[in-house]
Amino acid sequence: MRQAGRYMSEYRQLRERYSLLDICRTPDLATAVTLQPVHRIEVDAAILFSDLLLPLEPMGIPFDFLKGEGPSIERPLRTEADLAAVRRFEPRESLSHVLTAIRQVQRELAGRVPLIGFAGAPFTLASYAIEGGHSTSFAHTKALMYGHPKAWHAFCDLIAELIGEYLAAQIEAGVDAVQVFDSWVGQLNAQDYREFILPHTRRIFDRISGLGVPTIHFGVGTGAILREIREAGGDVIGADWRTPLDEAWERIGSDRAVQGNLDPTVLLGPLDRIFEAIDDVLERAAGRPGHIFNLGHGILPMTPVEHVQAAARYVHQQTRQ
Ligand code: CP3
Repeated sequence: MRQAGRYMSEYRQLRERYSLLDICRTPDLATAVTLQPVHRIEVDAAILFSDLLLPLEPMGIPFDFLKGEGPSIERPLRTEADLAAVRRFEPRESLSHVLTAIRQVQRELAGRVPLIGFAGAPFTLASYAIEGGHSTSFAHTKALMYGHPKAWHAFCDLIAELIGEYLAAQIEAGVDAVQVFDSWVGQLNAQDYREFILPHTRRIFDRISGLGVPTIHFGVGTGAILREIREAGGDVIGADWRTPLDEAWERIGSDRAVQGNLDPTVLLGPLDRIFEAIDDVLERAAGRPGHIFNLGHGILPMTPVEHVQAAARYVHQQTRQ
């Protein structure tokens, strides 16, 4: 969950010389950044350093990251015709640098911890392509979704096909697990999720389940749609911090594993507060198998790295038998 990033001085140093996209596109740099948290924090897995937006470029949707503003799409998709013009691509060619980074990271990790690969899910990717950047209301996205359902479904179906293939390629390259990020899908109610998203996300999981690695399905603000998310797929379902872990797990069902769910902003507070919050998550997990302790979302740039280190160490102390 944003293991690497601006809260780490070694990452900030590298970012003085290279853009975020340079790092993502240069296997040596992506490898180095992937390993930074493994060296610094007692994490039990590494997450590949990359970005969820990388597939947009070969789809014919160029973008950049603007300082302080996040992602910016050059020409956001706003019409049915824009959606229909999106291109197919072969991830093993257009995103081969990601696959090279995976092989390189695995050589360097040499089995020390497993490596997690990832990609974005249809709603989150579509919303960046349509909004053009960060959004709070997702107005353009929903206008197209409700207004042009046929074009919406064709677009999401294409995203699902490409992302399924991209994840399959990551698995072939050697990742030990994959995480599907539908970060912003909590914007939808259960009925709309079922109608506009579920079949597409399910297509991704259908493509990758059976390839021999566990799959994780993650979103933020998804308390009201956890049942539908579970239905779409994933061996592990992510739960953010808004729903207590035990309640979230009840909705997800005891036959699935759960990942979560410490509020990442708790890491900004003092250590005793952090430990108390961790205790609460662990008590709610109650030692049941299938809980992966994690943050409910990404680490914020102003988080002291010592707090992240202390939190990981504390979780290990409390759970190692
Ligand atoms: O170590 C890791 O966690 C792996 C790296 C990773 C990045 N992006 C690198 C990155 C991962 C897993 C992602 C996924 C991603 N990218 C998501 C889904 C996860 C989530 O947060 O819900 C999303 C929505 C994106 C798109 C994206 N990339 C946004 C909205 C931003 C701006 C965020 C901000 O705070 O400004 C990015 C930039 C980005 N991608 C950073 C990192 C470490 C920020 C650091 C930088 O600018 O150097």
